[in-house]
Amino acid sequence: MKRLIVANWKMHSGPSQASILVTKLAAAIAPDPDTTVVLCPPSLDLFALAADAQKGQFKLGAQNLYFEDEGAFTGEISGPMLQGLADYVIVGHSERRRLFGEDDALVAKKVVAAIRNQLIPILCIGENLTQRESHLAEKVVVDQLSAAVHGLGPEDLARLVVAYEPVWALSTTVNGRPATPSDVEPMMKLITTTLAGRYGADVAADVRLLYGGSVNDEDARAYLALPDVDGLLVGGASLIAEKFARIVEAAQSL
Ligand code: PGA
Repeated sequence: MKRLIVANWKMHSGPSQASILVTKLAAAIAPDPDTTVVLCPPSLDLFALAADAQKGQFKLGAQNLYFEDEGAFTGEISGPMLQGLADYVIVGHSERRRLFGEDDALVAKKVVAAIRNQLIPILCIGENLTQRESHLAEKVVVDQLSAAVHGLGPEDLARLVVAYEPVWALSTTVNGRPATPSDVEPMMKLITTTLAGRYGADVAADVRLLYGGSVNDEDARAYLALPDVDGLLVGGASLIAEKFARIVEAAQSL
């Protein structure tokens, strides 16, 4: 089974630090055709990292894009600008939704823009603590997912990656506690069932599902062992080369 391990560096490391980190990662991680490793540094670093990433056979991803291809959108980065620099792009991360006001409609347009520009969207969905405690987790996940894939046809789904990231389990959240594999598994099934209801089971089976939320080198294997999990989206632990290398090793050893 092919695994996908994605590093989300968030707003850490400028081009020179990022280059040092990639060199360390390339030394620590043995390339494996069955495990794709995607590094998502700040967009500013992508150009500098293109050659370094090749050494470690890493793929590169952006952390965000705007849905228009060009125009008067100060501070934004578009799909065409990322072409040739990144293969993947994170869309709808909870920090973008929570801190920068991205709503489901905007996320849906970004998913379409990513596909239109031959980028693989890593769509992030997940409920927050209040929603979970109010027993709304399933509804939130289904609503976010349904809204985000609104503009996609069945032919687009093979390129889609969905990351279930419960906001309450992210290391950036003050009240964070890890989600257990038994919290995660039913949500993964729910994602597949929701996609199957819309596109059919065969098409839904092609969508790769990631878990993300405070994953570290000690618990990575437990999430990866879940039958519906194809990989991981790793934040904090992806900035420490030794830890991230052990997470990738866990995926390679399964
Ligand atoms: P974390 O971040 O692993 O630090 O919780 C994951 C993410 O926000 O994508």
